[in-house]
Parts: sequence; C-alpha cells; structure tokens
Amino acid sequence: MSHNEDKEKPDSIQRRKLIRRLGAGMVGASLGIPVIMSARALVPNALYEKPLRFKAGQPEQFTQGPTFIADQGVFVFREGQAFYCIGATCTHLGCTVQIVNVGRGRTQTIEFHCPCHGSKFRADGTNFDGPAPRPLSYFRLDFAPDDGQLVVDLSQQAEKGWRLSLT
Ligand code: FES
Repeated sequence: MSHNEDKEKPDSIQRRKLIRRLGAGMVGASLGIPVIMSARALVPNALYEKPLRFKAGQPEQFTQGPTFIADQGVFVFREGQAFYCIGATCTHLGCTVQIVNVGRGRTQTIEFHCPCHGSKFRADGTNFDGPAPRPLSYFRLDFAPDDGQLVVDLSQQAEKGWRLSLT
C-alpha cells in the first residue's frame, strides 16, 4: 500500500465534516425545541381585547345628559331616573363622533358630528347628513347585582329609544 493511499481524499473529509455538523445541529435542535416549547407554555395564550361588558359607575355619579366614556367609545345618557347608551362609533368608517350643542334656548339640543367625513346624527342617533348609512348604535345597560353599578353591554344592541329606569 502506498503512502498516498493512506491519505483520505478531500471529498471524503468534506463529507465527514458535513455529517458531523448535521449531527450536531440535530442534537441542538432536539434539545432546543423542547426548551422553546416550555418557554412558550409560560406565556398565556390570551387576546387582550376590551371586555364587552363593563361597569361604568354608580348611577348617582352620572349627571343629567351625556357622559362620554372615551376608552369604551360610548355615551351614557341620564334623563331623570332613566339611562341609555349610544355608541360613539360613526357608522360610515368608524371614527369617533363628537357631541355638538345646536339651537338656542328651548330649542337647544345636541347632535353627533363626525370629524372625518362630516356625517351628522340627531340626538337620538338618527343619521341625517353625510355619508353615514345607518343610525348610531344603542347598547343595553343593566345594574350590576353585586354593587348596583351601571353595566354597559356592548355585545347586546338595543333598539333606538331603549331606556333603563332606576325606579
Ligand atoms: Fe364618520 Fe366617515 S367615518 S363620516
């Protein structure tokens, strides 16, 4: 056997290195994947969305007229001992409408105006100007059984004019 035959060919050396690296990679992956999976299990698999039912406060805290609950995008109205809730989301493309006082004296009332494309809604939520195709939404209210707070339920729309009475 000649001395040259003992030496391995460069191809064979390369192949052996490649196999060694692949083996090391597979061992690494087999150890790493369970660690990653375990770490993932520690993170709760939850969506952090706004709750559809929320307490808005004690009824007596509401003054007469509208109270804007900005983080939920609704107006809660008090009329005497009755309450109702109108959504502030414009029915055109979803901008937040604003309350505007219109008229004077005995004819003074409110309207909802949308700053985005100019839709206007009457005090009862009816659309009357601009591109909005529908009235503003009404949502059901309830009293919380544990502490009597007003509860807004965004999952349940109410018909226009719906009221919740304290008495
Ligand atoms: Fe209100 Fe377009 S989003 S008018």
